[in-house]
Amino acid sequence: MPIPIPTRTTFDLFPTLYREQIDAARTSSWYDTFEDLTFQSTIVDLAELGEEEDFLNWLEEDSIFLPEGSEGRYAAGASLPNASSNNMNRQRSNSTSSDASSKSSISSEAPIYHLPKLNAAIRSALDKYGGSVFPKLNWTSPKDAAFILPQTASGPLYCTSPSDVYLLLKSSDFISHDLDNERAYAGCEEGEEQDAVTFMKPKLELVLKKYCDINPSREIRCFVRNNALIGITQRDNVFYDHLQSDETRIKICDTVRALWEDEVRENYDGGIDYVFDLYLSPNFQSAQIIDFQPYRNSTDPLLFTYEELLSILETAFEPLPPCDEVTATTTIPKPRLPIFKAIDSQSHPSANRNAPTYQSNMMPFEMIEFSQGRNLDEFKEAWEEALAQGLTE
Ligand SMILES: Nc1ncnc2c1ncn2[C@@H]1O[C@H](COP(=O)(O)OP(=O)(O)OP(=O)(O)O)[C@@H](O)[C@H]1O
Ligand SMILES: [Mg+2]
Repeated sequence: MPIPIPTRTTFDLFPTLYREQIDAARTSSWYDTFEDLTFQSTIVDLAELGEEEDFLNWLEEDSIFLPEGSEGRYAAGASLPNASSNNMNRQRSNSTSSDASSKSSISSEAPIYHLPKLNAAIRSALDKYGGSVFPKLNWTSPKDAAFILPQTASGPLYCTSPSDVYLLLKSSDFISHDLDNERAYAGCEEGEEQDAVTFMKPKLELVLKKYCDINPSREIRCFVRNNALIGITQRDNVFYDHLQSDETRIKICDTVRALWEDEVRENYDGGIDYVFDLYLSPNFQSAQIIDFQPYRNSTDPLLFTYEELLSILETAFEPLPPCDEVTATTTIPKPRLPIFKAIDSQSHPSANRNAPTYQSNMMPFEMIEFSQGRNLDEFKEAWEEALAQGLTE
Protein backbone atom coordinates (compact mmCIF):
# COMPACT_ATOMS: atom_id res chain seq x y z
CA MET A 1 0.00 0.00 0.00
CA PRO A 2 1.47 3.40 -0.91
CA ILE A 3 2.46 5.56 2.03
CA PRO A 4 0.24 8.69 2.10
CA ILE A 5 2.25 11.84 1.52
CA PRO A 6 1.28 14.48 4.06
CA THR A 7 0.25 17.77 2.47
CA ARG A 8 2.67 20.63 2.96
CA THR A 9 1.79 22.71 5.96
CA THR A 10 1.21 26.34 5.15
CA PHE A 11 0.82 29.26 7.48
CA ASP A 12 -0.42 32.81 7.23
CA LEU A 13 2.06 35.62 7.63
CA PHE A 14 0.50 36.35 11.01
CA PRO A 15 -1.47 33.99 13.19
CA THR A 16 -5.01 34.83 14.22
CA LEU A 17 -4.74 37.10 17.21
CA TYR A 18 -6.96 36.76 20.27
CA ARG A 19 -7.55 39.16 23.14
CA GLU A 20 -6.22 36.53 25.51
CA GLN A 21 -2.85 36.72 23.78
CA ILE A 22 -2.67 40.45 24.22
CA ASP A 23 -3.72 40.14 27.83
CA ALA A 24 -1.08 37.46 28.39
CA ALA A 25 1.60 39.94 27.35
CA ARG A 26 0.69 42.44 30.09
CA THR A 27 3.40 42.48 32.71
CA SER A 28 0.84 41.75 35.41
CA SER A 29 -0.26 38.56 33.60
CA TRP A 30 3.14 36.92 33.37
CA TYR A 31 5.08 38.49 36.23
CA ASP A 32 4.15 36.01 38.98
CA THR A 33 4.93 33.02 36.77
CA PHE A 34 8.34 34.31 35.74
CA GLU A 35 9.23 36.34 38.83
CA ASP A 36 12.52 34.51 39.34
CA LEU A 37 13.54 35.00 35.73
CA THR A 38 12.88 38.69 35.32
CA PHE A 39 13.67 42.08 36.82
CA GLN A 40 12.03 42.67 40.17
CA SER A 41 8.93 44.75 39.64
CA THR A 42 6.07 46.34 41.52
CA ILE A 43 2.74 46.54 39.76
CA VAL A 44 0.42 49.29 40.88
CA ASP A 45 -3.23 48.81 39.97
CA LEU A 46 -4.47 52.37 39.79
CA ALA A 47 -8.14 51.49 40.27
CA GLU A 48 -7.34 49.44 43.35
CA LEU A 49 -5.33 52.34 44.64
CA GLY A 50 -8.41 54.52 44.19
CA GLU A 51 -6.63 57.07 41.99
CA GLU A 52 -7.22 55.84 38.47
CA GLU A 53 -9.68 58.58 37.59
CA ASP A 54 -7.53 61.33 39.04
CA PHE A 55 -4.47 59.93 37.29
CA LEU A 56 -6.25 59.82 33.93
CA ASN A 57 -7.64 63.31 34.42
CA TRP A 58 -4.18 64.62 35.14
CA LEU A 59 -2.67 62.74 32.20
CA GLU A 60 -5.31 63.86 29.74
CA GLU A 61 -5.38 67.46 30.92
CA ASP A 62 -3.50 69.84 28.68
CA SER A 63 -1.45 71.06 31.58
CA ILE A 64 2.20 70.97 32.44
CA PHE A 65 1.77 70.80 36.20
CA LEU A 66 2.86 67.72 38.08
CA PRO A 67 0.88 66.19 40.91
CA GLU A 68 1.48 67.86 44.22
CA GLY A 69 4.19 66.48 46.46
CA SER A 70 5.74 64.34 43.73
CA GLU A 71 9.18 65.95 43.84
CA GLY A 72 12.07 64.12 45.39
CA ARG A 73 12.80 60.59 46.43
CA TYR A 74 11.30 61.16 49.89
CA ALA A 75 7.96 62.69 50.68
CA ALA A 76 8.41 66.24 51.83
CA GLY A 77 7.16 67.02 55.31
CA ALA A 78 6.59 70.55 56.54
CA SER A 79 8.94 71.98 53.93
CA LEU A 80 7.20 70.82 50.78
CA PRO A 81 9.09 71.86 47.67
CA ASN A 82 7.18 74.68 46.03
CA ALA A 83 6.01 74.91 42.49
CA SER A 84 9.16 76.63 41.26
CA SER A 85 11.61 73.98 42.44
CA ASN A 86 14.00 72.38 39.99
CA ASN A 87 12.18 70.25 37.50
CA MET A 88 8.66 70.87 38.70
CA ASN A 89 6.52 72.13 35.87
CA ARG A 90 9.09 71.22 33.28
CA GLN A 91 7.51 71.67 29.94
CA ARG A 92 6.97 69.14 27.26
CA SER A 93 9.30 70.02 24.45
CA ASN A 94 6.42 70.19 22.03
CA SER A 95 4.17 72.20 24.29
CA THR A 96 2.86 75.37 22.78
CA SER A 97 2.27 77.28 26.01
CA SER A 98 5.55 79.03 26.35
CA ASP A 99 5.97 80.49 29.78
CA ALA A 100 3.38 79.13 32.14
CA SER A 101 5.84 77.83 34.72
CA SER A 102 7.90 80.96 34.90
CA LYS A 103 5.14 83.45 35.58
CA SER A 104 4.32 83.93 39.20
CA SER A 105 0.99 85.48 38.26
CA ILE A 106 0.05 82.20 36.63
CA SER A 107 1.29 80.01 39.45
CA SER A 108 -1.46 81.31 41.73
CA GLU A 109 -4.02 80.05 39.21
CA ALA A 110 -2.17 76.83 38.51
CA PRO A 111 -4.29 73.71 38.78
CA ILE A 112 -3.33 71.43 41.61
CA TYR A 113 -3.38 67.69 41.09
CA HIS A 114 -3.45 65.26 43.97
CA LEU A 115 -2.17 61.70 43.63
CA PRO A 116 -0.91 61.08 47.17
CA LYS A 117 -1.35 57.31 47.11
CA LEU A 118 0.41 56.98 43.80
CA ASN A 119 3.24 59.18 45.06
CA ALA A 120 3.54 56.87 48.05
CA ALA A 121 3.43 53.71 45.91
CA ILE A 122 6.21 55.00 43.67
CA ARG A 123 8.33 56.00 46.68
CA SER A 124 7.79 52.61 48.22
CA ALA A 125 9.10 50.96 45.02
CA LEU A 126 12.05 53.36 45.01
CA ASP A 127 12.88 52.31 48.59
CA LYS A 128 12.55 48.66 47.72
CA TYR A 129 14.81 48.90 44.67
CA GLY A 130 17.62 51.03 46.02
CA GLY A 131 16.43 54.39 44.76
CA SER A 132 15.68 54.00 41.06
CA VAL A 133 12.95 52.47 38.90
CA PHE A 134 12.13 51.96 35.23
CA PRO A 135 8.44 52.74 34.60
CA LYS A 136 5.94 51.40 32.11
CA LEU A 137 2.19 50.97 31.83
CA ASN A 138 0.35 47.73 31.04
CA TRP A 139 2.53 46.90 28.05
CA THR A 140 4.46 49.98 27.06
CA SER A 141 7.27 52.10 28.44
CA PRO A 142 7.54 55.84 27.76
CA LYS A 143 10.85 55.37 25.97
CA ASP A 144 10.00 58.03 23.39
CA ALA A 145 10.09 60.55 26.25
CA ALA A 146 13.54 59.61 27.57
CA PHE A 147 14.87 63.02 26.52
CA ILE A 148 12.87 64.78 29.23
CA LEU A 149 15.02 63.43 32.06
CA PRO A 150 18.72 64.11 32.44
CA GLN A 151 20.61 61.28 30.76
CA THR A 152 22.48 59.11 33.20
CA ALA A 153 25.32 56.67 32.70
CA SER A 154 22.86 53.96 33.79
CA GLY A 155 20.64 54.47 30.74
CA PRO A 156 17.35 56.11 29.83
CA LEU A 157 14.12 56.24 31.87
CA TYR A 158 16.09 56.33 35.10
CA CYS A 159 13.58 57.57 37.67
CA THR A 160 14.45 58.55 41.21
CA SER A 161 11.24 60.32 42.22
CA PRO A 162 7.51 60.20 41.47
CA SER A 163 7.90 63.42 39.47
CA ASP A 164 10.41 61.70 37.15
CA VAL A 165 7.84 58.98 36.48
CA TYR A 166 5.09 61.54 35.88
CA LEU A 167 7.25 63.61 33.54
CA LEU A 168 7.96 60.58 31.39
CA LEU A 169 4.35 59.48 31.26
CA LYS A 170 3.10 62.97 30.50
CA SER A 171 5.64 63.42 27.70
CA SER A 172 5.18 60.07 26.00
CA ASP A 173 3.06 59.38 22.96
CA PHE A 174 3.83 55.67 23.10
CA ILE A 175 1.96 55.05 26.33
CA SER A 176 -1.29 56.31 24.83
CA HIS A 177 -1.47 52.87 23.21
CA ASP A 178 -2.13 51.39 26.64
CA LEU A 179 -4.87 53.89 27.45
CA ASP A 180 -6.99 53.12 24.46
CA ASN A 181 -8.54 49.67 24.29
CA GLU A 182 -9.20 49.97 20.59
CA ARG A 183 -5.50 50.40 19.92
CA ALA A 184 -4.32 47.94 22.52
CA TYR A 185 -6.51 45.19 21.08
CA ALA A 186 -6.20 46.20 17.43
CA GLY A 187 -6.23 43.27 15.04
CA CYS A 188 -7.88 40.84 17.44
CA GLU A 189 -10.34 38.25 16.26
CA GLU A 190 -13.76 39.79 16.89
CA GLY A 191 -15.80 38.00 19.50
CA GLU A 192 -19.53 38.50 20.03
CA GLU A 193 -19.02 40.71 23.02
CA GLN A 194 -16.18 42.54 21.37
CA ASP A 195 -17.87 45.91 21.12
CA ALA A 196 -18.79 46.09 24.74
CA VAL A 197 -15.28 45.14 25.78
CA THR A 198 -13.54 47.39 23.30
CA PHE A 199 -15.13 50.49 24.66
CA MET A 200 -14.64 49.56 28.28
CA LYS A 201 -12.10 51.68 30.09
CA PRO A 202 -8.81 49.82 30.20
CA LYS A 203 -7.57 48.46 33.49
CA LEU A 204 -4.58 50.61 34.12
CA GLU A 205 -1.39 49.43 35.76
CA LEU A 206 1.83 51.24 36.47
CA VAL A 207 4.77 48.83 36.43
CA LEU A 208 7.85 49.95 38.32
CA LYS A 209 10.82 47.77 37.52
CA LYS A 210 13.99 47.81 39.54
CA TYR A 211 16.36 49.85 37.43
CA CYS A 212 19.25 47.80 36.03
CA ASP A 213 22.27 48.91 34.07
CA ILE A 214 21.55 47.27 30.75
CA ASN A 215 24.22 46.58 28.17
CA PRO A 216 22.26 46.77 24.89
CA SER A 217 24.64 44.36 23.16
CA ARG A 218 23.19 41.56 25.28
CA GLU A 219 19.54 42.25 24.50
CA ILE A 220 17.83 39.87 22.10
CA ARG A 221 14.32 39.30 20.73
CA CYS A 222 13.01 35.75 20.21
CA PHE A 223 10.15 34.61 17.96
CA VAL A 224 7.88 31.67 18.68
CA ARG A 225 5.46 30.53 16.03
CA ASN A 226 3.28 27.43 16.10
CA ASN A 227 5.03 26.46 19.33
CA ALA A 228 8.47 26.45 17.70
CA LEU A 229 11.29 28.79 18.61
CA ILE A 230 12.14 29.95 15.12
CA GLY A 231 14.30 33.05 15.37
CA ILE A 232 16.48 35.20 17.57
CA THR A 233 17.67 38.67 16.68
CA GLN A 234 20.04 41.09 18.28
CA ARG A 235 18.01 44.02 19.62
CA ASP A 236 20.36 46.98 19.33
CA ASN A 237 21.16 48.39 15.90
CA VAL A 238 24.91 48.34 16.33
CA PHE A 239 27.67 46.07 15.03
CA TYR A 240 29.19 44.16 17.96
CA ASP A 241 32.43 42.33 17.45
CA HIS A 242 31.74 39.89 20.24
CA LEU A 243 28.53 38.63 18.59
CA GLN A 244 30.33 37.48 15.47
CA SER A 245 31.91 34.14 16.33
CA ASP A 246 30.06 30.91 15.61
CA GLU A 247 30.86 29.77 19.10
CA THR A 248 29.06 32.76 20.66
CA ARG A 249 26.08 32.40 18.36
CA ILE A 250 25.73 28.71 19.17
CA LYS A 251 26.03 29.47 22.87
CA ILE A 252 23.28 32.11 22.66
CA CYS A 253 20.98 29.76 20.74
CA ASP A 254 21.58 26.96 23.25
CA THR A 255 20.88 29.25 26.19
CA VAL A 256 17.68 30.61 24.69
CA ARG A 257 16.47 27.19 23.59
CA ALA A 258 17.03 25.74 27.06
CA LEU A 259 15.29 28.64 28.79
CA TRP A 260 12.38 28.49 26.40
CA GLU A 261 11.99 24.70 26.62
CA ASP A 262 12.43 24.49 30.39
CA GLU A 263 10.62 27.59 31.55
CA VAL A 264 8.63 29.46 28.95
CA ARG A 265 7.01 26.96 26.58
CA GLU A 266 4.80 25.27 29.16
CA ASN A 267 4.19 28.26 31.37
CA TYR A 268 3.46 31.25 29.17
CA ASP A 269 -0.28 31.83 28.78
CA GLY A 270 -0.18 33.58 25.43
CA GLY A 271 -0.77 30.57 23.18
CA ILE A 272 1.64 29.17 20.61
CA ASP A 273 2.60 32.38 18.82
CA TYR A 274 4.44 35.16 20.65
CA VAL A 275 7.62 37.17 20.87
CA PHE A 276 9.77 37.57 23.97
CA ASP A 277 12.75 39.71 24.84
CA LEU A 278 15.70 38.52 26.89
CA TYR A 279 18.73 40.03 28.52
CA LEU A 280 21.71 37.69 28.33
CA SER A 281 24.27 37.33 31.10
CA PRO A 282 27.84 38.49 30.30
CA ASN A 283 28.95 34.93 29.49
CA PHE A 284 25.74 34.28 27.49
CA GLN A 285 24.96 31.24 29.59
CA SER A 286 21.80 32.48 31.20
CA ALA A 287 19.21 35.13 30.53
CA GLN A 288 16.51 37.21 32.15
CA ILE A 289 13.13 37.93 30.62
CA ILE A 290 12.54 41.58 29.73
CA ASP A 291 9.02 41.13 28.43
CA PHE A 292 6.57 39.42 26.07
CA GLN A 293 4.60 40.74 23.14
CA PRO A 294 2.03 39.27 20.79
CA TYR A 295 3.17 37.91 17.42
CA ARG A 296 1.74 40.71 15.30
CA ASN A 297 2.76 43.32 12.81
CA SER A 298 3.27 46.06 15.37
CA THR A 299 5.91 44.02 17.21
CA ASP A 300 9.15 45.07 15.54
CA PRO A 301 10.84 42.05 13.89
CA LEU A 302 14.15 43.97 14.02
CA LEU A 303 16.72 42.19 11.83
CA PHE A 304 14.12 39.78 10.45
CA THR A 305 11.14 40.51 8.29
CA TYR A 306 7.92 38.67 9.03
CA GLU A 307 8.19 37.13 5.55
CA GLU A 308 11.55 35.63 6.51
CA LEU A 309 10.13 34.30 9.75
CA LEU A 310 7.28 32.73 7.82
CA SER A 311 9.69 31.04 5.47
CA ILE A 312 11.73 29.67 8.40
CA LEU A 313 8.51 28.34 9.91
CA GLU A 314 7.33 26.71 6.71
CA THR A 315 10.68 25.05 6.14
CA ALA A 316 10.65 23.77 9.70
CA PHE A 317 7.22 22.22 9.33
CA GLU A 318 7.64 20.99 5.78
CA PRO A 319 7.03 17.25 5.83
CA LEU A 320 10.07 15.08 5.15
CA PRO A 321 9.97 13.15 1.86
CA PRO A 322 8.82 9.53 2.14
CA CYS A 323 11.58 7.14 3.20
CA ASP A 324 11.98 5.40 -0.16
CA GLU A 325 12.68 8.74 -1.87
CA VAL A 326 15.40 9.66 0.54
CA THR A 327 18.89 9.15 -0.71
CA ALA A 328 22.12 10.45 0.62
CA THR A 329 22.41 12.84 -2.30
CA THR A 330 18.93 14.34 -2.34
CA THR A 331 18.36 14.98 1.35
CA ILE A 332 18.87 18.61 2.31
CA PRO A 333 19.16 18.91 6.07
CA LYS A 334 16.77 21.39 7.61
CA PRO A 335 18.43 24.32 9.36
CA ARG A 336 18.67 23.87 13.09
CA LEU A 337 16.33 26.23 14.89
CA PRO A 338 16.35 28.90 16.06
CA ILE A 339 17.99 31.01 13.36
CA PHE A 340 20.15 33.69 14.96
CA LYS A 341 20.63 37.10 13.35
CA ALA A 342 23.16 39.72 14.35
CA ILE A 343 24.52 42.70 12.50
CA ASP A 344 27.53 41.23 10.80
CA SER A 345 29.35 44.27 9.49
CA GLN A 346 29.72 47.96 10.14
CA SER A 347 28.16 48.60 6.76
CA HIS A 348 25.07 46.48 7.41
CA PRO A 349 22.01 48.56 6.41
CA SER A 350 20.60 48.28 9.93
CA ALA A 351 23.86 49.23 11.62
CA ASN A 352 23.22 52.49 13.29
CA ARG A 353 24.14 55.78 13.50
CA ASN A 354 25.11 57.31 16.75
CA ALA A 355 21.74 58.97 17.05
CA PRO A 356 19.26 57.81 19.63
CA THR A 357 16.44 55.62 18.37
CA TYR A 358 13.51 57.88 19.15
CA GLN A 359 15.06 61.15 18.13
CA SER A 360 12.13 62.08 15.95
CA ASN A 361 9.96 62.09 19.05
CA MET A 362 12.38 64.27 20.86
CA MET A 363 13.18 67.71 19.58
CA PRO A 364 12.98 69.93 16.58
CA PHE A 365 15.23 68.63 13.85
CA GLU A 366 17.41 71.77 13.94
CA MET A 367 18.17 71.08 17.56
CA ILE A 368 19.24 67.53 16.83
CA GLU A 369 21.42 68.64 13.96
CA PHE A 370 22.87 71.35 16.07
CA SER A 371 23.83 68.98 18.85
CA GLN A 372 25.99 66.74 16.65
CA GLY A 373 29.54 66.46 17.93
CA ARG A 374 28.94 68.71 20.94
CA ASN A 375 28.79 67.84 24.58
CA LEU A 376 25.88 69.17 26.62
CA ASP A 377 27.61 72.36 27.79
CA GLU A 378 28.94 73.15 24.35
CA PHE A 379 25.54 72.48 22.85
CA LYS A 380 23.76 74.68 25.38
CA GLU A 381 26.17 77.53 24.79
CA ALA A 382 26.02 77.22 21.00
CA TRP A 383 22.25 76.90 20.99
CA GLU A 384 21.81 80.01 23.11
CA GLU A 385 24.17 81.91 20.84
CA ALA A 386 22.26 80.78 17.78
CA LEU A 387 18.95 81.80 19.32
CA ALA A 388 20.32 85.22 20.27
CA GLN A 389 21.66 85.66 16.76
CA GLY A 390 18.33 84.58 15.32
CA LEU A 391 16.55 87.19 17.44
CA THR A 392 18.78 90.02 16.32
CA GLU A 393 18.77 89.10 12.63
N1 LIG B 1 14.53 47.27 34.53
C1 LIG B 1 15.14 47.98 33.58
N2 LIG B 1 16.16 48.81 33.89
C2 LIG B 1 16.77 49.53 32.93
N3 LIG B 1 16.45 49.48 31.63
C3 LIG B 1 15.46 48.66 31.26
C4 LIG B 1 14.75 47.87 32.21
N4 LIG B 1 13.81 47.15 31.56
C5 LIG B 1 13.93 47.47 30.27
N5 LIG B 1 14.92 48.36 30.06
C6 LIG B 1 15.37 48.92 28.78
O1 LIG B 1 14.28 49.52 28.13
C7 LIG B 1 13.97 48.88 26.90
C8 LIG B 1 12.48 48.77 26.72
O2 LIG B 1 11.94 48.03 27.82
P1 LIG B 1 10.58 47.26 27.71
O3 LIG B 1 10.68 46.18 26.69
O4 LIG B 1 10.17 46.85 29.07
O5 LIG B 1 9.61 48.40 27.18
P2 LIG B 1 8.69 48.36 25.88
O6 LIG B 1 7.90 49.59 25.90
O7 LIG B 1 8.00 47.05 25.82
O8 LIG B 1 9.78 48.46 24.71
P3 LIG B 1 9.86 47.61 23.35
O9 LIG B 1 8.66 47.98 22.55
O10 LIG B 1 11.17 48.09 22.76
O11 LIG B 1 9.89 46.18 23.75
C9 LIG B 1 14.68 47.53 26.98
O12 LIG B 1 15.06 47.11 25.70
C10 LIG B 1 15.87 47.82 27.85
O13 LIG B 1 16.93 48.37 27.10
MG1 LIG C 1 9.16 45.34 25.35
